[in-house]
This record gives sequence, structure tokens and C-alpha cells, in this order.
Amino acid sequence: MSTQAIKVENLVKNFGKGSSLVEVIDGASFEVNKGELVALVAPSGAGKTTLLMMIGCVEEPTSGTIWLGDEKVYENKWLTKETRKIRREKIGFIFQAHYLIPFLNILENVTLVPQTNGISKKESEEFAMELLEYFEIQDKAQAMPSALSGGQNQRAAIARALANKPKIILADEPTAALDSKRSVDVVKMLKKVALEQDVAVIMVTHDEAMLPLCDRILKIEDKKVISVEVAKEAQIL
Ligand SMILES: Nc1ncnc2c1ncn2[C@@H]1O[C@H](COP(=O)(O)OP(=O)(O)O)[C@@H](O)[C@H]1O
Ligand SMILES: [Mg+2]
Repeated sequence: MSTQAIKVENLVKNFGKGSSLVEVIDGASFEVNKGELVALVAPSGAGKTTLLMMIGCVEEPTSGTIWLGDEKVYENKWLTKETRKIRREKIGFIFQAHYLIPFLNILENVTLVPQTNGISKKESEEFAMELLEYFEIQDKAQAMPSALSGGQNQRAAIARALANKPKIILADEPTAALDSKRSVDVVKMLKKVALEQDVAVIMVTHDEAMLPLCDRILKIEDKKVISVEVAKEAQIL
């Protein structure tokens, strides 16, 4: 088993054509290993969300290659018709707003994707309760999202992202709506998940205070992706 969770080579993404052509990513190559929490940092409009959505098999690249684990999923075209299946099985998404479904309780939100994947109600609920315990919100299992705080909802959203046991978590500004203490909690939790469950996490953030909690920083510069080490003395985990 390799340690590589994500490998991207010569990835290109343009939107539009002719005079309305927008080149967003122009030849990005990078890897993210299992167990790593990597921050993705770039100015607004630089292509962070687009990059996550390509890795997540949501947005089709223009060209290049993407491996998820040992599986090559894209080489100038999707190599499977079942991109949705890949997404459901390999990837957990976390967004800025938690996007829990408001008319389902927390347990139902967390078990939705595994049940869509054919996991039984009993098995998915047992694992969901383990996750809720892990994130110390097991007493909220029967509560509706509206009854939880922002930080609790975001923890529920992380539990939901883990419910299908993905090896990759893509988090797009997961702390943007949280105060600094809650943000640190959420990022530490993502770090714990990466380490303990051997998951690769890419987290988009604008918050410099979160960077010392990460293992590495990916930056989009000149439409390419560069890897930057986190200053050692700044690492506090
Ligand atoms: N569906 C789309 N059609 C056309 N342009 C898009 C589309 N999605 C994103 N873009 C453009 O791609 C660039 C990168 O957007 P995005 O990935 O959202 O950046 P970020 O997340 O870094 O703020 C922006 O210039 C944006 O306008
Ligand atoms: Mg974005």
C-alpha cells in the first residue's frame, strides 16, 4: 500500500472559450499523503474551490491526470462513468456552511450517505454514533441542526464527511463561519482524523492562525500549485 492519497499531474482547468476564456489552473502537479493535513491557500478567485471540486470528481478538468489512492480516475477524461460512486466512496466534503439537511436530525444527516451506499441502517447508525461520540456530540444525535451551535454543527458535518470512511477529506473554508476558538477546535479535529484514521485532508483557509496546525501548505501561485513547509517553530500540535 502506498502512502499517497492524492496525486495530481499537469492539471489544467479553463472556463469558457475564445474571448471569455478564463485560465484558472495551468499545469498543477502535487501529492498529498495519507495522514497529512494540508492547508490550501490562495487569494479569492485563484481556483481553490475549483481545484477541490476537480479532486472530488465534481468539476471536470480540462486536461491532466488525477489519482485518488492507487486509482487513476482522470487522464484527459474521466476514466470511469461512475464519478458519483467514486465521490461517495472515497471522499468526504466539508463546506464553509455546514449544509446539514435542516429537516433531518443529526443521526439521520450522518447516516444518509452510507445508507445511499447500501450500508444497513443498523450498521450505519452504529458507526455514526461512534463518530458523534468521537466528536463529543452524541447527546445531539436526535436533535435537529437548528438546535446546535455553529461549532457543534460543523463537528456534525465532519462526522458526516467521515461516515463513508473516506481516505480523502476536502474541506472548503470549514472554519470561516466560526470564532477563533471554535476554528482551532475544528482544525485540531481534522488533524486528529488525519493522524488516527490515516486520512488525507486538504483544507482551504484564509485564516493564518490555522496554518501552524497544518502539516504543510499548498499555495496556488501563477496558476500552479506549490508546496510550502510550515515553519517548525510555529507548529504547536
Ligand atoms: N462555473 C464557472 N464558470 C466560469 N468561471 C468560473 C466557474 N467557476 C469558477 N470560475 C472562475 O474560476 C476562478 C476560480 O474560482 P474559484 O475556484 O471559486 O476560486 P477560489 O475558491 O479560490 O475563490 C474565478 O475566476 C471564477 O470566476
Ligand atoms: Mg472558494
